Amino acid sequence: MILKKNEILIGIETSCDETSVSLMINGKIIDEITTSSMDKQFVYGGVVPEIATRYHQSNIHKIFKSLLDNNNINISEITNIVYTANPGLPGCLHVGSCFAKTLSNLIGAKLIPINHLYGHLFSPYINSDIEPNFPLLGLVISGGHTVIYLAKSYRDIEILNTTQDDAVGEVYDKVARALGMGYPGGPKIDKIFNISKANINFLKNNFQVDKQFSFSGIKTSVLNYINIAKQKNNHLDIETISSSFQKIIIDEVIRKVNYYAKLHNVATISVGGGVAANNYLRSEIKKNACKRIDISKLKYTGDQASMIVWYGSKLI
Ligand code: KG4
Ligand code: ZN
Repeated sequence: MILKKNEILIGIETSCDETSVSLMINGKIIDEITTSSMDKQFVYGGVVPEIATRYHQSNIHKIFKSLLDNNNINISEITNIVYTANPGLPGCLHVGSCFAKTLSNLIGAKLIPINHLYGHLFSPYINSDIEPNFPLLGLVISGGHTVIYLAKSYRDIEILNTTQDDAVGEVYDKVARALGMGYPGGPKIDKIFNISKANINFLKNNFQVDKQFSFSGIKTSVLNYINIAKQKNNHLDIETISSSFQKIIIDEVIRKVNYYAKLHNVATISVGGGVAANNYLRSEIKKNACKRIDISKLKYTGDQASMIVWYGSKLI
């Protein structure tokens, strides 16, 4: 990628409940504003698409204006607009794409639509000194997706494995909801994780390393365990249940990542997406001593526009 001097790029991300805009100048992320409707979704235990869509619609133009004002940028100076085209909640994507297209038509900036999962895939490299070491194996693990990629370049990206049913983050959220821990569940389960309590075997032996990811079995097993305990008025040992669940699901993800890394003989593994914030995942995946492990900084694990504009800048 050779960006011209004073090239000013704007990133726009609205795939789920975060409304986010980011500013890149000369290949560096300069600023980002991200706001979320999460607190409005809390009572429902998950994202309500209509609430998220309306939130984007009421906020995107305001945060865009603040981003420009805070950085003394005139709208006419913008050269490129990178936005999330897919995947995501349809209404939410629609708000972001309409905003991006209208802006581009108005000021004549080049429009770059991208797959937001590729943003997660390359998020470890945002404003970093290290470059991707192609070919690399990429784990994207979030509330909506669990995918292992083989990336030979920024454009040549192959899916090696993707979940047949639930995504890992989705299962975290459902287990946490059943345990009355609130939404989003991942950070809450992560916080109370205690490996010495991880001793319930929730279908652990059902996983096969060379098969597609499938997490509906472990989800049902944990939810049944909780429901039976509730019906019998048994004490719910939240720490034991959630620690056992976390250890099994993360171990399964890491086992598959290591399997594909060996199969494709890659030297580097990149990790991004909301669940990449998980402390147990971050420490366990680094134990693969043969590989370079590039994990997103915590501020770039969730959905934000910096990863969108950063990846888009590689396609110019
Ligand atoms: O990438 P993201 O912000 O949105 C999607 O594109 O889905 O990911 C959100 C997901 C939620 O399911 C949330 O529970 C999970 O990431 N998550 C975590 C942690 N932090 C967020 N899961 C496990 N451990 C965490 N520390
Ligand atoms: Zn995402």
